[in-house]
Amino acid sequence: MSRFIAFIKKYKTTLIIGSVAIMVAQCAGTKSTTKKADPFLPQEADVPIAQTHWQRTTFAQLQQGYSLYSVKCNDCHDMKNIQDYSLTEWPDWMKKMGRKAKLDSTQYNLIYHYVMARREAIAMGK
Ligand code: HEC
Repeated sequence: MSRFIAFIKKYKTTLIIGSVAIMVAQCAGTKSTTKKADPFLPQEADVPIAQTHWQRTTFAQLQQGYSLYSVKCNDCHDMKNIQDYSLTEWPDWMKKMGRKAKLDSTQYNLIYHYVMARREAIAMGK
């Protein structure tokens, strides 16, 4: 037992530094695994996709669409996963939900264009 205590005393600093290093490594590890890309965030790649449908769409508009989506479509239920609904389902849901969320036509178009472009981008693996 006394040999054990002597060992601890001799290597105290090494042991402390070692355990701190392990804790730091574990924290860094969990950080990198929880930091997932947000699939809702508009990407530059969404702009040319949106422009094939709505020629003048800008990145700023898609970002506005995203922020409106996260405010207006988040009241009664969580933000719906964009990729859960198809190209043909989205227009129907938007009509129904646009009324529920009391969107004006500008807000409606910003959200609709953002959702459709992001959906297509996700489907293309972007
Ligand atoms: C006033 C409350 C309310 C607001 C605001 C709202 N929703 Fe909904 N949403 C609902 C309810 C209730 C349902 C349940 C299905 C129904 O109405 O048929 C639903 C269902 C949905 C569904 C289909 C869920 C499913 O799989 O059955 C989608 C997609 C959706 N909402 C998208 C949106 C979007 C996009 C917006 C923003 C423009 C929005 N919602 C805003 C109440 C709301």
